[in-house]
Amino acid sequence: MTLQKDLISGLSKKNKIIPSKYHYDLQGSKYFEKITQQKEYYPTRKEKEILKKISKKIPALFKGSLAFVELGSGAADKIKILINKKVKYYVPLDISLNFVKKSAFKLKKKYPKLIIKPLKVDYSKRFKIPNFKKTTKVCFFLGSSIGNFHYREEKKFLINIRKSIGKDNFIFIGADLIKNKKILHNAYNDKKGYTAKFSLNLINIINRTQKTKLNIKNFYYHGFYNSQKKCIQGFLVSKIFQTFKIKNKTIVLKKSEKILVEISNKFTIKSFKALASQTGWKTQQYWQDKKKYYSLFLLKS
Ligand SMILES: C[S@@+](CC[C@H](N)C(=O)[O-])C[C@H]1O[C@@H](n2cnc3c(N)ncnc32)[C@H](O)[C@@H]1O
Repeated sequence: MTLQKDLISGLSKKNKIIPSKYHYDLQGSKYFEKITQQKEYYPTRKEKEILKKISKKIPALFKGSLAFVELGSGAADKIKILINKKVKYYVPLDISLNFVKKSAFKLKKKYPKLIIKPLKVDYSKRFKIPNFKKTTKVCFFLGSSIGNFHYREEKKFLINIRKSIGKDNFIFIGADLIKNKKILHNAYNDKKGYTAKFSLNLINIINRTQKTKLNIKNFYYHGFYNSQKKCIQGFLVSKIFQTFKIKNKTIVLKKSEKILVEISNKFTIKSFKALASQTGWKTQQYWQDKKKYYSLFLLKS
């Protein structure tokens, strides 16, 4: 079982870590949707601003029929801005299949002719994008999810997708930009506490799947912008000394010990273009919102 393996390995490390993909059970996906509605969380608003600005230009950018493939599609809210008559297929891929099925169902009501094929995929591993004959594939990786990868994993991910979709296809990627530290800090520390709830929900997921009896009240969320690493780091912090077992492995958490549960790397236009070219993609165009908080890149394979 991957979650169990990752928990044992991540919680046995000196600097403890749980991969952020495990946040997304049904409740986690609902909390994430709430986060995107918070005033402080600008990425969703800014990305939508850009998508609305370019939506009319989309059909002219690509030849023939289109298959939209969205990675980590979640609520599939943004894609609605871009769907046009040329789009024959929509393939939402997500680790949270139940959530994505619900969103696909809603979308089908709005676009009855659209062929929708939701798939459960963990994109942090190797995966294949389905093939559609005589159709240009246009992938979407929105919500600044490209920033959630650790170490060089985003490079592996971009190379994998480029190979999987084949030559002369496309991907739109939303990338959050480096900006004033306070704006970044507030975005990941919303006043209503949804970011904290989203991260603390991991404790419920561990209890449910591993039969542990951790008390959520013995943890708190701490998120901040690390200017040196140019990324947001989100931690769960243990308020007390506590031990518990995952399978046969005893995990020890000291008082104030932190578990890294989320990172969100921030980019510059230059650093993102470099990442694209290092992974064999050609940057076609990019757009920014009025305040230049956020960017959307169109890359060609
Ligand atoms: C940051 S949210 C973005 C959601 C949506 N694309 C947006 O722009 O608002 C990340 C989404 O990716 C999914 N996800 C996270 N890690 C994943 C993984 N390794 N494989 C597939 N989906 C993943 C989550 O379930 C969630 O729907």
